This record gives sequence, C-alpha cells and structure tokens, in this order.
Amino acid sequence: MTRIRPQKFGHIVYRTRRFDQMLGWYQIVFDARVQYQNPALAFLTYDDEHHRFALADLDVLQPDGSETEKQSLIGVDHVAYTYASLEDLFENYEQLKAKGIDPYWCVHHGVTVSMYYADPDGNQMEFQVEAFDSSEEANAFMCGPINAANPVGVEYDPEDWLVRMRAGTPVSDFLMRQIHEPASPIRGALGK
Ligand SMILES: [Fe+2]
Repeated sequence: MTRIRPQKFGHIVYRTRRFDQMLGWYQIVFDARVQYQNPALAFLTYDDEHHRFALADLDVLQPDGSETEKQSLIGVDHVAYTYASLEDLFENYEQLKAKGIDPYWCVHHGVTVSMYYADPDGNQMEFQVEAFDSSEEANAFMCGPINAANPVGVEYDPEDWLVRMRAGTPVSDFLMRQIHEPASPIRGALGK
C-alpha cells in the first residue's frame, strides 16, 4: 500500500482577540491582500493561492469564552495541507481510518473539499483538495456572493461520498459544491 502524502502546504488560521491589529499586521508584513472579510472572519493571501492566512475573531465567535477552553484561546486554529486529488484525499481517509485515525470535521468549503484531523496534542489540521481547476476561478469564488453568504461551508459524510464514488459518480460532481446551505458550525477537535 502506497501511503498518500500532501502535495503542498496551504494556509494557517489564527484565532485572535486583536482582529483589526492582526489584519493590519499581515497586510503590512506579508504585503497580503484581503480576499474576503466579515465581522468574524478574514481571509488573506500574498500569492495566487486563494488564502494563505485566515483570522477568526474570538470577540465575535467566542465572546464569553474562558481561557481554559481550547477553542477560546488565541493562537493557531489549524494549518492546512493540499492533496493532489479527491481520490488522494479519500484514499488517505481510508488508510488513516484503518489505523484508527478519523477526521473530526468534514466540510465542503466551496473553494476546497476538506477533512479536519487533530494530532495527539489536539493540534488541528485541515487536509484539503481544490474544488476549482485554476487559481483564478478559486479567487473569484472566494471574493464572490456564494462565499459571502456561507464562508464556512456545508458538512458532508465521507462514508456516503465513498459509496457514491464507488457507484460511479464523477469526481467533478463532488468537487463542485451543489448545495450551499446549511452553513456548518465551525467545529473543533474538542467539540467546542
Ligand atoms: Fe482552513
């Protein structure tokens, strides 16, 4: 069995209670531009990737969160790795599942199909596949109305997808999100 490896590193997401200061800092230091922003989330990039950074504003998302709850802490929320294809993502899913390692959140972000895993320390990571063929299309989606209406995404059941894939549903049907609601809650490895 050949193990699946990521194709590249994708992005990093930080939780912050200094949202505006952080936004300014990444624009200055990385010459990053804002791809999409709402009161709770901002996505920035410095190259042709649709986002290299995202910021989650805890003052909006966890206004009453205590510092003892992991999801309320400032710092890294997750890092993302890009896989070469949907087949790779799901082959990796099955290989890890056989080792007792399961994702805690499967969500179609629109711009990516993603599975989130946590390491033994609870560090969260996203394994993603690009939904679009080109960065131009991905960027257009990121800045467009569908993403603005639901910037988090729609959850999916990987077991259901595997059944449909094996029944012959083309990969493109999964990559291009057909439904854009309901918006998924942002899930964490600790379930908070
Ligand atoms: Fe992400």
